[in-house]
Amino acid sequence: MTTTFPATGRGDTRSWDLTEPATHMRPELAKFWRDRRQRTPIFRHEDSSTHPGFWVVCAHDPAVRIYRDSKRFTSQRGNVLLTLLAGRDNAAGKMLAVTDPPRHDRMRRLMTPALTREAVFSLATRIRERTARLLSEWANSGEFDFATEIASRIPIWTICDLLGIPDSEHDLLVSLTKQALSSDDAEQSAVSAVAARQEILLCLLDQVQAQRRRPADGLITRLIGSEFEEAPLTDDQIVTNCYSIVLGGDETSRLTMINAVHAFAEDPALWRRFGEVDDLGTAVEEIIRCFAPTMHFGRIATTDLDIDGVHITAGDIVTMWNISANRDEKRFEDPDTVCFDRKPNPHLAFGYGPHFCIGAPLARLEIAIVLDELRRMTPAIVATGTPQPLYSNFLHGYATLPVAFGQP
Ligand code: HEM
Repeated sequence: MTTTFPATGRGDTRSWDLTEPATHMRPELAKFWRDRRQRTPIFRHEDSSTHPGFWVVCAHDPAVRIYRDSKRFTSQRGNVLLTLLAGRDNAAGKMLAVTDPPRHDRMRRLMTPALTREAVFSLATRIRERTARLLSEWANSGEFDFATEIASRIPIWTICDLLGIPDSEHDLLVSLTKQALSSDDAEQSAVSAVAARQEILLCLLDQVQAQRRRPADGLITRLIGSEFEEAPLTDDQIVTNCYSIVLGGDETSRLTMINAVHAFAEDPALWRRFGEVDDLGTAVEEIIRCFAPTMHFGRIATTDLDIDGVHITAGDIVTMWNISANRDEKRFEDPDTVCFDRKPNPHLAFGYGPHFCIGAPLARLEIAIVLDELRRMTPAIVATGTPQPLYSNFLHGYATLPVAFGQP
């Protein structure tokens, strides 16, 4: 397989191995992406002894074209580097994110009614009450860890409400989802992540079986009563799709909140500006553009094709780096500045096209409520320690974030 960087040659690629989590912790990363967008918006990433080469799309425009083209780019052989490089995703054709149309459309229609803007709005009161309670518990305590005490609880508790899972299971799911996807450090074993995923599946299976006996108010019971391809859904089908909600919805929202609060603690003027925001919805969209943790998604080309003069061969892995596309100066004026009134804001943090994040209304709602409650509570956020960065080639952000409420 040919593996060259058009603009800078092999030496440069070796020092910027995007499969390697440590690469994403380098301080010059923003400059790397800026250079790449300008010089080679689509480039070939080196292969290695452990993985094949792949295409890296770092500009906004070609990323949009790939996201919306599920005919020439399949999700069924994975949609993140981990599975794409392994050559398969075990949930292909069963889980929404890794199923292609037309089956994908039928599957998505089952889940959409529970996740519309109107439907998730019914969860708002509980989200606000819980957030206010947690924050007031910590308000006078001096230092606390925003990541573990607030952000790791609100999204998964909300997803549990959405699925109809009782409060008694909430904390178990908090700790399992944390182990299942991101890595807090280089030492964390892949074995413990796999074990955590198995436990989440078992926990969801228990819930499906319990709700078959005693219906609850939530998505699991709704799926139990639904048909898919003219047959009732099996336990396996329900578990797989609820699992995609748990994995897709918990850590993404959690890390967006953490990354935003980290930025607010680093830049008191930014926090003051956020305190003055009237249009919270527009501000939250900008927070998602700037601080969403999901760095990339990907596809496999199903056919030979050309994009912007780059020849892609059937079977090639193509990755879209939202973290770069969302800072594309051709699409966003002053892309490195957080503009709370940015409108329109065509960011790709939720993807684009048929797989556009089905949980976007919920993510927007819970991020807005948590940050709104936080700004009611304190005029200043003070960092009281060094946050622990994640070790991942997929998610960026912090596992811990020690802070205190301060004076303006
Ligand atoms: C800030 C928070 C979030 C971000 C940044 C995010 C990001 C994304 C992105 C980029 C995709 C498209 C993936 C692709 O094209 O391969 C996606 C899909 C998806 N997300 Fe989210 N997400 C967030 C919150 C949520 C929430 C709260 C839920 C669940 C309630 C959720 C569930 C899903 C599911 C099930 C899919 C697959 C949709 C499909 O394939 O049709 N996400 N998300």
